[in-house]
Amino acid sequence: MPSSSEKRKADHLSLCATDDVAYKNKTTLFEQIELIPRALPELRIQDVDTGTSIAGKSLAAPLWISAMTGGGSEAVAINKELAATAQELGIGFCLGSMRPMLSDPARAADFKVRDVAPDALVMGNIGATEIMRNGPGPSLEAIAKIGADGIGIHLNPMMELIQPGGDTDFTGVIDAIAALVEAAGDDLTVFVKETGCGLSWRDGEDLKKAGVGVVEVAGAGGTSWIGVETLRADGAQERAGKIMWDWGIPTAVSTAWMVDKSFTVISSGGIRSGLDIARAVAMGAALTGVAAPLIQAREKGGISLVREYLDDLIFGLKIAMVGCGAADLAALSSVPRVLGPDLSRWIETGWQGR
Ligand SMILES: Cc1cc2nc3c(=O)[nH]c(=O)nc-3n(C[C@H](O)[C@H](O)[C@H](O)COP(=O)(O)O)c2cc1C
Repeated sequence: MPSSSEKRKADHLSLCATDDVAYKNKTTLFEQIELIPRALPELRIQDVDTGTSIAGKSLAAPLWISAMTGGGSEAVAINKELAATAQELGIGFCLGSMRPMLSDPARAADFKVRDVAPDALVMGNIGATEIMRNGPGPSLEAIAKIGADGIGIHLNPMMELIQPGGDTDFTGVIDAIAALVEAAGDDLTVFVKETGCGLSWRDGEDLKKAGVGVVEVAGAGGTSWIGVETLRADGAQERAGKIMWDWGIPTAVSTAWMVDKSFTVISSGGIRSGLDIARAVAMGAALTGVAAPLIQAREKGGISLVREYLDDLIFGLKIAMVGCGAADLAALSSVPRVLGPDLSRWIETGWQGR
């Protein structure tokens, strides 16, 4: 008999395999970033350098596969296939929540990917509430066991509020994060992520105080995790979920705020093209992440379609770089750009509390 958390993860996977869980009326606002094109780029596409490095690892492109939990028995296959693809392409890979491994050490096998991804950037993942309950020790031991380069802590209060049986107490989270950052020391990268609602400027202030240096914004405009839970909920939670479906900070906005707060920023939530990646880097992101489209591609055409999707993202980034005359990511980050009215209004208005 699958446990209730295994059943939940299997539901998540099957709901995310379709695009019915996207934001309905809110976008990432990446479409409101126009990079100024060059008619005289003076570049050859084969010379464009998309390489970068993070957490001591070199990457062939500013991209990672964002955290995704495999449902029950599918976890092993999903993690191994995605990690092997990341290794092949020279991009990063984040595991989904390692909570099952913390409660049942036998599940460590689901998260061990170093056999297929010996050199890739591999990150672990755990919910903030887990660290609140048990302190940093068990999570750090789990990371050591699988040989990951770091750990991402996910925050998802609105998703929990709509999730049947989800958490309702979000006090003490900042202190728990600070304790993990301290216990991790300098050798392990700790990053904090949302799961699709984005991080606000004030969240950034709190995370800075907690000692966090790297954030993954996971903003609004891609997969709506409130949408996912709404489809699983009933009664008051289902009714509230329908109202809250589009809750969140557009990814381009959250990216701009976190760059302003001097974090190393991973821009994610609705990254769907190489042009989105180019726009995120132009706004100051160090890296970008993609999640649900890879599960959808795997469902449709197996790992070869996942590979094709990722190849297309990287090719699209290169095309965009030639288009604006940027030979490398440093040049891309200083390409002149024009921001549309909604994006400018969001960015400026959200800074009110500074
Ligand atoms: C099937 C699936 C499972 C996920 N599980 C996790 C998880 O365990 N931990 C986490 O931090 N985020 C999880 N996420 C959220 C993603 O990492 C990402 O932040 C979010 O889906 C937005 O990105 P997207 O629009 O590219 O899907 C999951 C996403 C998907 C699609």
